[in-house]
Amino acid sequence: MSRLYNIAIVGASGAVGEELFRVLEEQNFPVGDILPLASARSAGSTIEFKGKNYTVEELTEDVFEGRDIDIAFFSAGGSISAKYAKYAVEAGAVVIDNTSHFRMDPNVPLVVPEVNPQDIASWRETGIIANPNCSTIQMVLALKPLYNLYGDIKRVDVSTYQATSGAGKTGMQELVQQMQDFFAFKLDQSKKKAFTHQIALNVIPQIDKPMPNGYTKEEMKMTNETAKIMGANIPVSATCVRVPVLRSHSEAVTVRFADSVEVDVEKVRAALNAFDDVEVMDDLEHSIYPMPTISTDTDITFVGRVRKDIFEDNVLHMWVVADQVRVGAATNAVRIAQKWIELEG
Ligand code: A2P
Repeated sequence: MSRLYNIAIVGASGAVGEELFRVLEEQNFPVGDILPLASARSAGSTIEFKGKNYTVEELTEDVFEGRDIDIAFFSAGGSISAKYAKYAVEAGAVVIDNTSHFRMDPNVPLVVPEVNPQDIASWRETGIIANPNCSTIQMVLALKPLYNLYGDIKRVDVSTYQATSGAGKTGMQELVQQMQDFFAFKLDQSKKKAFTHQIALNVIPQIDKPMPNGYTKEEMKMTNETAKIMGANIPVSATCVRVPVLRSHSEAVTVRFADSVEVDVEKVRAALNAFDDVEVMDDLEHSIYPMPTISTDTDITFVGRVRKDIFEDNVLHMWVVADQVRVGAATNAVRIAQKWIELEG
């Protein structure tokens, strides 16, 4: 029998942590033992994995010692990864980090396995592999086949419509609570925790903190991470918007190729469909296109509304939708682990 891997999940009680258990089980990942970790608040609670109960333990500096963990998934926020990832690495685990903390570290590979699996090879430099930003993952999954088809991408402009799941369980709960309160005529603005403004029946054109250049940190993540993952200097300008959706992100993406390129929509659809884990859903006549209700709970990045620009032949527009908790976090992390096993296992 091939070997089994002992897994730690930091943030086991969170939205992504819980999804990680589901994805590992669905993918029949070769799991040996499981160590679920969270804050002291959740220590002592149990999680079920493949019919067996595991007790959640408090994350501490020495919790990894002597536990023989092979793979540690971190999904408890950047400050937690900053402080604790090194203890997992010192104890012999590879860390697959879902936070933004290590992403732009030149010694840490930033990986979407369908796009740049080769980068995993440098994991030994730090023992850490970073999982990209959720909006970036689904965008590069749609960009890479176009890059393969037409070569140089001169510029990308993207507007996102990001679900509340990006702010974790608190974000989703805040949307549901505000909707219920609204219909009960008791919406109380002072109860906001996850978002600066009311999210129910609203859209908020700010995700993460402001940067000196007038963009937000989330927008600059899309710019910087896309270049690192694609290994190419692709200028990306993003506008990231929070919308009252539970857990799938949508993106309107405009791609400009070299002046000599004449976009062929049929070829673009074929290239997208041929790419791993990407599916075209594009029949406007019959009102068929991807939406959050379609992508949620799937591992597919869906693309629709593919069209050539009205004015310029080398410009393409498309609509990209994927489940933020899965494609944008848990599934990508598990796919990284699978590739890491292929390489090192
Ligand atoms: P806990 O539930 O004990 O607070 P989400 O992204 O859905 O908000 O989840 C965040 C995850 O990060 C939860 O599992 C949460 O655990 C965990 N977490 C938050 N703070 C800490 C901490 N100081 N130490 C360990 N885990 C933490």
